[in-house]
Amino acid sequence: MDEQITMTSPQMLKEVIEGLEKDQKELPSKYFYDQRGSRLFEEITQLDEYYPTRTEISIMRNNMPDIIRTLGNDIVLAELGSGSSKKTRLLLDHLPCISSYVPIEISEQYLTNVVQKLNQEYPDLQIDPVCTDYTTPFQLPAISKPYSNIVFFYPGSTIGNFHPPQAKAFLSNLSTLLDSGDGMLVGIDLKKDISKLEAAYNDSQGVTASFNKNILQHINQKLNANFNLDHFRHKAFYNNDEGRIEMHLVSTRNQTVIIEGQEFHFGRNESIHTENSYKYSIAEFNNLVNEWFSMEKVWTDANDYFSIQYLQKK
Ligand code: AVJ
Repeated sequence: MDEQITMTSPQMLKEVIEGLEKDQKELPSKYFYDQRGSRLFEEITQLDEYYPTRTEISIMRNNMPDIIRTLGNDIVLAELGSGSSKKTRLLLDHLPCISSYVPIEISEQYLTNVVQKLNQEYPDLQIDPVCTDYTTPFQLPAISKPYSNIVFFYPGSTIGNFHPPQAKAFLSNLSTLLDSGDGMLVGIDLKKDISKLEAAYNDSQGVTASFNKNILQHINQKLNANFNLDHFRHKAFYNNDEGRIEMHLVSTRNQTVIIEGQEFHFGRNESIHTENSYKYSIAEFNNLVNEWFSMEKVWTDANDYFSIQYLQKK
């Protein structure tokens, strides 16, 4: 049955304990994404209420010639997190020549899988994968073919998971890997009507609730913990002051949970903050990046729900 050897990850344990020892308990949202979590997120992207993925894809489709022209020929396309295979394929299908595709991904299993599939589908494509947590400083691999520029691809508004100061530190780090002329194609979710935003994180089928609770299941499996998923409920709302969707798991009772022998107490109605999803206006996002990047191009949909921009390193 259990063909996977489960090892305790000391890094994960440290981060989980640190988060749960805070006054406002929290967990790093990157721990949503075990195998089941990635599958649930994939399901979220198909929901009627969850507009970001399909909107971003439509923006890409509607502006493909301009996007391709902006990226240029013979680039190194370095994708941060290689989960969004559909968007990657859209680019790969339209870029006439590319010197290398560099998927950067924390899960080795996932990365191996992606590389294997792309090798079959794109036999001529040079792929130079990097297995790392891209939120920590990393190096790009040596590229054997000559290339014009490096372009990071960071779709999905994933940058919205960072607090703005963290996002800045991250952009600053990335910019050290780039020279002038290099750039970044990045997707961000725009500020909009609150009801539209909140519906996207409170879908009627409860998929987002399952996705949120799955972080506890992931911790149970990886860290020898005993969270009871039935004793927490999903909560998501737009925090207008902070300009972000917040997801929480609310304890429905007084309870104690044990993680690797350590006890954590949860009061009735006490919450664990599991995710931030920041929403920006284009001007706000420009402000965030402009120390390192100039916003060369902006593409949006007719409703201004979502935006893709090409940032050029200053
Ligand atoms: C993958 C971080 C962009 O914030 O919308 C979806 C994750 N969380 N539903 C987002 C998510 C709940 C998603 N990102």
